[in-house]
Amino acid sequence: MSKGLEDVVAGTSAITFIDGARGRLVYRGYDISDLVDHSNYEEVAYLLWHERLPKPDEFKLFTKDLVSKRKIPAGVRSSLDSLSYDCDTMDALEMAIAALGIYDDPHLPLDEKAASIASKIGSMVAYIHRHKYQLPQLEPRSDLGFAADFLYMVTGEVPDRASEKLMDVLFVLHADHELNASTFTARVVASTLSDVYSSVTAAVAALKGPLHGGANERVVEMVQEIGSPDRAESYIHERLARKEKIMGFGHRIYKTNDPRAKILRAYAGEIVSSDEERKNLAILDRLAEVMIREKGIYPNMDFYTGFILHHLRIPTYLFTPIFAVGRTPGWLAHVMEQYADNRIIRPIAEYVGPKDAVYIPMELRSGNIVA
Ligand SMILES: CC(C)(COP(=O)(O)OP(=O)(O)OC[C@H]1O[C@@H](n2cnc3c(N)ncnc32)[C@H](O)[C@@H]1OP(=O)(O)O)[C@@H](O)C(=O)NCCC(=O)NCCS
Repeated sequence: MSKGLEDVVAGTSAITFIDGARGRLVYRGYDISDLVDHSNYEEVAYLLWHERLPKPDEFKLFTKDLVSKRKIPAGVRSSLDSLSYDCDTMDALEMAIAALGIYDDPHLPLDEKAASIASKIGSMVAYIHRHKYQLPQLEPRSDLGFAADFLYMVTGEVPDRASEKLMDVLFVLHADHELNASTFTARVVASTLSDVYSSVTAAVAALKGPLHGGANERVVEMVQEIGSPDRAESYIHERLARKEKIMGFGHRIYKTNDPRAKILRAYAGEIVSSDEERKNLAILDRLAEVMIREKGIYPNMDFYTGFILHHLRIPTYLFTPIFAVGRTPGWLAHVMEQYADNRIIRPIAEYVGPKDAVYIPMELRSGNIVA
């Protein structure tokens, strides 16, 4: 038995390779830094689902199909319209994906359903954001790539090339990460031969927790609370003395640099453009320095995503939903892989409870019963 299933091999997969000791991440054989430099959301989705990079004609058709599927069905829109303005964004997203399963044609082939979910999830997050702020809803724009269209629908402005690239980098870095909690959840649900919408809804539910997708929001709160780089060291000491976790640090697999955090730190250094950003980045750097020195624990990807998303003028409560948007191609690739060679996932527990309790009728029970 390994608590939290640490180091347990729970299946085979040809999607993503992580070398935790060397800090390496590879999708379908391609190093993450090559994909960040040269690829984008759409091409990585194709790679994850089709096991290879697309040829130009294939990519054209694939992106055209994705663009044609961005609009959310009216039924999903009215479900979202009925939500209170202060609803939790991740709860709303779970509802939207489950509702999409009701409004999409159940007879569509799996790749069409996957394309529908991956295309619409960006529109859904933007829709939920605009609903919460009571802003006019915007239609997706077919002349924009996925990342640019997403930013447009959230902010209401067509982004410049640098912002579009930054958003694409975040999506590419989030696209897959082997059997993390949400992906494992998606595979467990798929292994019962439940549908793909239910699998992705369950994955979103798993991502919601602060130990998984919710950490990036906490990092931003932490940086605000610290307020100045010279207070970072004492902040860490106080938290560690109380045996509290510092958000944005540590990883089940990476025992050295998380390659995604390294890439994001480099981007953060390039985009920093105001005194506030310079101060926040200095706080992050100081926190990282102290944690590595004191505990040998490195920043993970969530440590820098908030900084970058704020630079893109994305509000904090959209951070975890954006993680979901980025991770969707990976969840879908894992669901496809699970269906292709399925056996229901059903581990066993080491039973540690009583075995020979004697049933006493209700009327004869007085006080606490100890079996
Ligand atoms: C990611 C995470 C959930 C991995 O959990 P895990 O593999 O179960 O690791 P554990 O929680 O068992 O931690 C192992 C040791 O490192 C310490 N540790 C791990 N992450 C830490 C953190 N963020 N801050 C302080 N200590 C940490 C633990 O206290 C534990 O120390 P101990 O052996 O002295 O008790 C964990 O590192 C964490 O909670 N990080 C903060 C949340 C976060 O950033 N999540 C985003 C993940 S991408």
